[in-house]
Amino acid sequence: MGKTIIISNRLPLQINISENDLEVSPSVGGLATGLKSFHQEGDSIWIGWTGLASEEIPENLKPKVLEKAKSQGCIPVDLTSEEIEKFYYGFSNRTIWPLFHYFMEYTEFDAEHWEAYKQVNQKYADAVIEKLEDGDTVWVHDYQLLLLPALIRKEKPKVTIGFFNHIPFPSYEVFRTLPWREEILRGMLGADLLGFHTYDYERHFLRSVNRILHYDINFNAVNKGNRIVKADSFPMGIDYNKFRNSALEHKSQPKSETTDIQKKLDYHKYVSKGTKLIISIDRLDYTKGIANRIRAFGYFLEKYPEYQENVRLIMLAVPSRTNVPQYQLLKKEIDELVGRINGKFATVNWTPIWYFYRSMPFDNLIDLYTSSDVALITPVRDGMNLVAKEYIATRTDNTGVLILSEMAGAAQELSEALLINPNNFEQIVDSIKYALEMPEEEQIRRNKIMQKRLRRYSVEKWAKDFMTNLRETTWTRKTFRTL
Ligand code: ADP
Ligand code: G6P
Repeated sequence: MGKTIIISNRLPLQINISENDLEVSPSVGGLATGLKSFHQEGDSIWIGWTGLASEEIPENLKPKVLEKAKSQGCIPVDLTSEEIEKFYYGFSNRTIWPLFHYFMEYTEFDAEHWEAYKQVNQKYADAVIEKLEDGDTVWVHDYQLLLLPALIRKEKPKVTIGFFNHIPFPSYEVFRTLPWREEILRGMLGADLLGFHTYDYERHFLRSVNRILHYDINFNAVNKGNRIVKADSFPMGIDYNKFRNSALEHKSQPKSETTDIQKKLDYHKYVSKGTKLIISIDRLDYTKGIANRIRAFGYFLEKYPEYQENVRLIMLAVPSRTNVPQYQLLKKEIDELVGRINGKFATVNWTPIWYFYRSMPFDNLIDLYTSSDVALITPVRDGMNLVAKEYIATRTDNTGVLILSEMAGAAQELSEALLINPNNFEQIVDSIKYALEMPEEEQIRRNKIMQKRLRRYSVEKWAKDFMTNLRETTWTRKTFRTL
C-alpha cells in the first residue's frame, strides 16, 4: 500500500518572517488542528500553503522554508500575493465561505476571482501529481479545493481520491444561486468518496447533484455512468487523549503554582470570591455569532443583576482573514460592543468581559478550558466546531457546562449540552443562568455521556473510518470494472 497525500489550502504550520529569519507556529482552525494527529501518526505527506506570499520570502530563506516544512512532513505550495488576493481572500472567502454558511448578503460573484480559483486549483493538482506514485491515495480537504478531485482524476484516472468538506454544504436552494455550480459539482465528483460532517450536508450535496447535473442518486451513491461516486457523513472528532491527558497534567500541577493565563486573569482572586467564569473561544469570524454573544451577555447582566460582579466572560478571538471587509467590520463591531458593555457595567473591582484578540499556545487553551465554569459557543452556522468537543474532553472531573448552538455540526453529537438557537436572545440568556446554577450532579451526568461519545469517535477513528470507506468504494469500482 502506498502513502497518503493530504492536500488542503493551509498547512498545519504557519511560517512568518521576522528579522530575516523564520518563525514557525501551528495553524489555527479545525481542519489543521484536527487532522494534525492523523498526519503525525501515519505514512502521509501534506501539501499546502504556508501562509506567506512567495514575494514575501527572501531568496536566501526559501531553502529554509522547504526544510522547515519537510521536517514536519509537509510540502509547501507557493502562492503569489495576487493569487492570495483573488483565490484565497477572493473566491474562497468572499464567495464559497459566505454562501455555504448561508450569508447570501456577503456573497460576491466575481468572474476574475473564479478564474483565479480555477488556476490555483490547477496549481495544487500539479503539486499532487508531481508527488503521486502507484498505489498512493489522495485525500483532498475543504472548500478552497473543490475542483481538485476532477483535475487530478483527469491526469490520473485510476488513482484513489477522497474529499472531505469541513464546512456546511448548503441546501440546493442556496447552492443553485452560484453561477459556477455545475463546474463545482463536477470538480467534487472527481473523488471516489465525498465526506461531510453531518447527514444533512451530505443530503444537500446529493440533492444538488441530482437537480443540477441530473445524475441518478441511489441512496448515497451517484451514478455518473462510467463511475459510481459515494457521499457519506463522518463527523470529525478530536485527539481526545491529547486534550484529556494535557488537562490531567495541568490539574496535577501544585495549586500554589499560578499559570501564566491565571496570573493575567487574577484567577485565584476571582475564584476565591466565587466569581464564575464563562469562556468563548473562536476565530474572529461572522459565522461564529460573536457579536450576538456579547449582546446576549450584556442583556444577561441586565436581566439578572444579581450576577453583576459575580460572573466574567473571557473571550478569545483569533485574527482571521483580515483582508476581507466583513472581518474588518466585525472586529470593529466587537471592539465597540466590548467597550460599551464594560463601560456600562464595570466597577472598581470587576470588569465583565476580558477580551483577547490573538492566538494562544496550546497550554493556555487547556488552562482556559479547565479553569472555566461554562463554555458559551453560539455560531450562527458552523460546519462542526471542535472547540465544543475540546472543552468537554478537558473536563477531567466531569464538571462544567457547555452551551452550544444547534447550528453547529457538533450539536448533533453533543445533545446533552444546553442547545440554543443563536438568534433567540431570551433562550441564550436563560441558558447562561441555568448553566451557572446547574447542580454538579447534572453537569457530571451530561458530560460523562458526551465524553464517552467523543472518546469513542476520536479524530483517529474518524480518519480510519473515512479511509476504510474510501478503500471499499474503490475496491467495488475496480471489481465491477473487471466483471
Ligand atoms: P474553525 O475550524 O471554524 O476555526 P473549530 O472550532 O472547528 O473552528 O476549530 C478551531 C480550532 O482552533 C480549535 O482546535 C481550537 O483549539 C483552535 N483555536 C481557537 N481559538 C484559538 C486561539 N485563540 N488560540 C489558539 N488556538 C485556537
Ligand atoms: C476553517 C476552514 C479551514 C481553514 C480554517 C482557518 O476551519 O474549514 O479550511 O483553514 O477555517 O481559516 P484560514 O482562512 O485561516 O485558513
